[in-house]
Amino acid sequence: MRAYIKSVFSFRKISHPLLSYFAFWTDNSGFDKSSEIRAMAVINNSKIGKYTRINSNCKLVHTEVGNFSAIGKGAILGFGRHPLNYVSTHSIFYKKNKMRNDWMTPIEFETNLPIKIGNDVWVGRDAKIMDGVTVGDGAVVAAGSIVTKNVPPYAIVGGIPAKLIKKRFPEDVITRLLDLEWWNLPDEIITKNKAFFNEPELTIHTINKYFPD
Ligand SMILES: CC(C)(COP(=O)(O)OP(=O)(O)OC[C@H]1O[C@@H](n2cnc3c(N)ncnc32)[C@H](O)[C@@H]1OP(=O)(O)O)[C@@H](O)C(=O)NCCC(=O)NCCS
Repeated sequence: MRAYIKSVFSFRKISHPLLSYFAFWTDNSGFDKSSEIRAMAVINNSKIGKYTRINSNCKLVHTEVGNFSAIGKGAILGFGRHPLNYVSTHSIFYKKNKMRNDWMTPIEFETNLPIKIGNDVWVGRDAKIMDGVTVGDGAVVAAGSIVTKNVPPYAIVGGIPAKLIKKRFPEDVITRLLDLEWWNLPDEIITKNKAFFNEPELTIHTINKYFPD
C-alpha cells in the first residue's frame, strides 16, 4: 500500500507524459518512457514494454508485457492463488493476517505465478488472464474472456475458458513475423518502413518488400 501511495507522488508522473496521475505501481515495477499507463491502472511487480498501453482500471500482478501491446480497459492479469491440497484454502493458516496469527504457520507456496504477455498483443476489454499464463507475440484475447491456458503466437482466443477462434495470418506469414521481430526494431527503422504497418494484405511478398529475406 505504501508503495502505491509513493507512486501517487512520483516524479515520474511529471517526467513521463503518458503516465496518468491516477495510475499506481509498486517500486519493483518498471516501464519505458514511451509506455502509456492510464487512470486507475494498478501495476504490481510488473514490467511494461515500449509503446505498450495499459488502459484505465487494469490490474497487472507479476506480469511482463512486451512492446507495442495494448491491454484493454478493466483487464485483470494475475489474480493470486491459494493452496488446494491443505484441509483449508484460507490464508489464515499460512500467511500473516489481520484476523489472528496464532494459527499461522508459513508454507512453501507461490501465491502469484508469473504471467508473460508478448509483443503486439491485444488484450480486449475486461479480459482476465490467470496466473502463470503466457500469451504469444501477435495474439489477441477477445473482450470479456478468461484465459486459463497459454495462447500461441498470432492466435485469436475468446470465451470462458478462452478457446482458439482463429489465427491472424497463415502459418508462413506468422513464422516470418516471429523471425522478423519488428517490435524490437529501432524507431528509425520503423519510421523508414512506416508504410509496412498500413499494408492491408499481409503476405510473405509484402513483408519481403520492406524487409528482404
Ligand atoms: C476477438 C475479436 C477481435 C474478434 O474479432 P472478429 O474476428 O471481427 O470477430 P467475429 O465477429 O468475426 O467473430 C469470430 C468468432 O469469434 C467469436 N467471438 C467474437 N468476440 C468474442 C468474445 N468477446 N468472446 C468470445 N467469442 C467471441 C464470435 O462469436 C465468432 O464465433 P463463431 O466463429 O463461432 O461464429 C473481437 O470480437 C473482440 O473481442 N475485440 C476486442 C474488443 C475490445 O475489447 N475493444 C476495446 C478496445 S481496447
